[in-house]
Amino acid sequence: MQCCWKSMVLLALASIAIQYTAIRTFSTKSLGLALTGHAVNCSLKDLTRLGQETLEGSDQGCDEILSHTSSSSPSVSLPSDSANKRTHILILATTRSGSSFVGQLFNQHPEVFYLFEPLYHVQLAVLPRLAQSRNLAERRVMLGAARDLLRSLYHCHLNSLESYIRPRPANHSTDKLFRRGASRSLCSPPVCEAPLGREVQSLVLADEGECARRCGPLNVSLAADACRAMRHAAIKTVRIPQISDLRALIEDPRLNLKVVQLVRDPRGILASRIETFRDTYRLWRLWRATGRRPHNLDLGQINTVCEDFLRSVSTGLARPAWLRGRYILLRYEDLARFPLQKTRELYSFLGLVLHRSVEDWIINNTRGSSDLSSRQKFTTVRDSAANAENWRVKLSFDMVVHTQTVCQPLFKLLGYKTVFHPRELRNLSHSLVEDRTFHPFF
Ligand SMILES: *[C@@H]1O[C@H](CO)[C@@H](O)[C@H](O)[C@H]1NC(C)=O
Ligand SMILES: *[C@@H]1O[C@H](CO)[C@@H](O)[C@H](O)[C@H]1NC(C)=O
Ligand SMILES: *[C@@H]1O[C@H](CO)[C@@H](O)[C@H](O)[C@H]1NC(C)=O
Ligand SMILES: *[C@@H]1O[C@H](CO)[C@@H](O)[C@H](O)[C@H]1NC(C)=O
Ligand SMILES: *[C@@H]1O[C@H](CO)[C@@H](O)[C@H](O)[C@H]1NC(C)=O
Repeated sequence: MQCCWKSMVLLALASIAIQYTAIRTFSTKSLGLALTGHAVNCSLKDLTRLGQETLEGSDQGCDEILSHTSSSSPSVSLPSDSANKRTHILILATTRSGSSFVGQLFNQHPEVFYLFEPLYHVQLAVLPRLAQSRNLAERRVMLGAARDLLRSLYHCHLNSLESYIRPRPANHSTDKLFRRGASRSLCSPPVCEAPLGREVQSLVLADEGECARRCGPLNVSLAADACRAMRHAAIKTVRIPQISDLRALIEDPRLNLKVVQLVRDPRGILASRIETFRDTYRLWRLWRATGRRPHNLDLGQINTVCEDFLRSVSTGLARPAWLRGRYILLRYEDLARFPLQKTRELYSFLGLVLHRSVEDWIINNTRGSSDLSSRQKFTTVRDSAANAENWRVKLSFDMVVHTQTVCQPLFKLLGYKTVFHPRELRNLSHSLVEDRTFHPFF
């Protein structure tokens, strides 16, 4: 009886400690717990793991308990994958910054429920005409709705999304979910029972449309069940400008939200947007073609990226208490050059175990791949390293100079190098990314 009571106290303390202070002292400090005169000396990391096990005989010290429990869990050397602590991940990005690639790092994990850009529907419903409103009041309305929806989605209340989908789903069933095919969980059993066979993953990834064609309308209730059955959830969005817009969610202890802020050289973002959003970036193409800057060019299109990045990254790097253990900064260029290493760092920060299928996916879809034909099917991901650099041959020197001038403070912060001559720009053996490591803080 006494033994169980002790276990309960230990578990309760562990969960309280984890909830409120774990991150701060996660791997460094130790916590001494004195239980009825009997000292148990476990680090919080140990406690996290202990919290998942049924403790027997907690008269032992922490080492003994751990050696006892670890005999039944062979994965002791892995970071503690807070088994009963659901982790919620937000990929905070902007368009053409490599967010689809980062999303796949979670989408490919069999225990992560992944949603690709659900806030698309909020924006469409709240601000139908404006891609990125710079009107503060409008922005605030949109952000309030976005935060509420994110919170609901992480709690798997997927029907909250229904009120933003047009036409409004009947009977919790819709074929209008934006980029459903980008989400593995929404295209595989039990959400989709279509006879996709064993190649379900590769089929879905080969062509997102395949999912909608073969799975029929999405049953939102089934999707919510699938979300609940997964250990963790990840959402990618390009519709939240800055980290401070997420503060209320980050500070919510029930949510356990961790943010991966993805940044990229704004010159790379610009080049990629010019290719992708042909209408909205029409005047930039004109500039490139004629060598003369159109007088009515919307410079805000790139200035906004730099301002949002600058504010957000400055906030993150200033290490405010509310971001402790909850913020990691990732440069797309680093991910492109060292995909496996950076992914391991990401998972380690999140406290999740990196799954073999994620590593396989990376190997298949980056420069490591030798099988070119299988790679060509992928639309969102090409050779990531080459892709990250190819802006250097696509932008005119004038456009590069313009961008690096307006984004100068950001370049300093993120370690992107300014070029002074076209020769420097086109010489790809001259790197424009300084070696920098942005450690998360705990
Ligand atoms: C707990 O561990 C720390 C660091 O390893 C040590 O300094 C301290 O004396 C230990 N406390 C107990 C009660 O064993
Ligand atoms: C919704 O379900 C009800 C009962 O199952 C059915 O009668 C109705 O036609 C359905 N509505 C739509 C729009 O499918
Ligand atoms: C969705 O799935 C639920 C649970 O299996 C089921 O009861 C419901 O009828 C399904 N809805 C539709 C429209 O098929
Ligand atoms: C990686 O490629 C191999 C060989 O083409 C394939 O069998 C495997 O399913 C792929 N894995 C992933 C996760 O894409
Ligand atoms: C290209 O850059 C490399 C590394 O900075 C330098 O050694 C080389 O001379 C440059 N080549 C040309 C043609 O400028």
